[in-house]
Amino acid sequence: MNLLVNIDHVATLRNARGEGYPVPVEAATVCEKAGAKGIVFHLRGDRRHIKDEDVNGLKESVKGTLDFEMAATDEMLNILKKTDPDLCTLVPEGREELTTEGGLNMKVVFSDFEKRVFPFIRKTDIEISLFVDPNTDDIELAHKLGSDAIELHTGTFANAVSKEARFAELKRLREAAFLANELGMKVNAGHGLNLENLPILLEAVPYLHDISIGHALISKAVFWGLPKTVQAYLEIMSIYEDVK
Ligand code: PXP
Repeated sequence: MNLLVNIDHVATLRNARGEGYPVPVEAATVCEKAGAKGIVFHLRGDRRHIKDEDVNGLKESVKGTLDFEMAATDEMLNILKKTDPDLCTLVPEGREELTTEGGLNMKVVFSDFEKRVFPFIRKTDIEISLFVDPNTDDIELAHKLGSDAIELHTGTFANAVSKEARFAELKRLREAAFLANELGMKVNAGHGLNLENLPILLEAVPYLHDISIGHALISKAVFWGLPKTVQAYLEIMSIYEDVK
């Protein structure tokens, strides 16, 4: 199980004042030194946090898995090809949203992904992961496209208010992980995860490969510092890795 740190919000903090700091690339280096297995960034169409220059710097400096999270636009596909990261996580993107609000609707994107997006990325060695909600139809369509991995959207679980809702979503995530694994895809997960809900997820959901965590980790690091915060997440993950 690998912790991949999403450093988008280091860029958010930098952009708030338009100064040159804090530097996302520097944050990525500190996270990797503290034990993170890789770095995630989302280059959005509106460039609200990560900018094109950051992408070049990350490509040069990240030693572990570099995960380029993006909407499947022609513009991003061209940047993806030039950047040549290890992994590309395709997500839906809406201009008005504060953050990615849900998984891809695979029925809606299937034909476009089959004809345009997958053939383009398959000319490279970049692995493909599709960010999906934990439901059978979307996972089966991801498999039909030949995706290497899915990333399970954990936001609904993370935001569940009642115990019942949280339990129901955990059950969906667990079943989705079984199905994706059975279909031969890697199972990644992310969105809304923090030090409190991560152990609950790991207790219930098997086969997790890459876990992508951003906002809560970077926020906690304001108080604890990045190395200590990364290590706290790694400690939780190591406990559950041992159990399984
Ligand atoms: N995975 C995906 C696909 C995302 O869009 C995001 C948010 O950028 C994350 C993981 C990380 O979510 P968070 O910042 O809530 O940890």
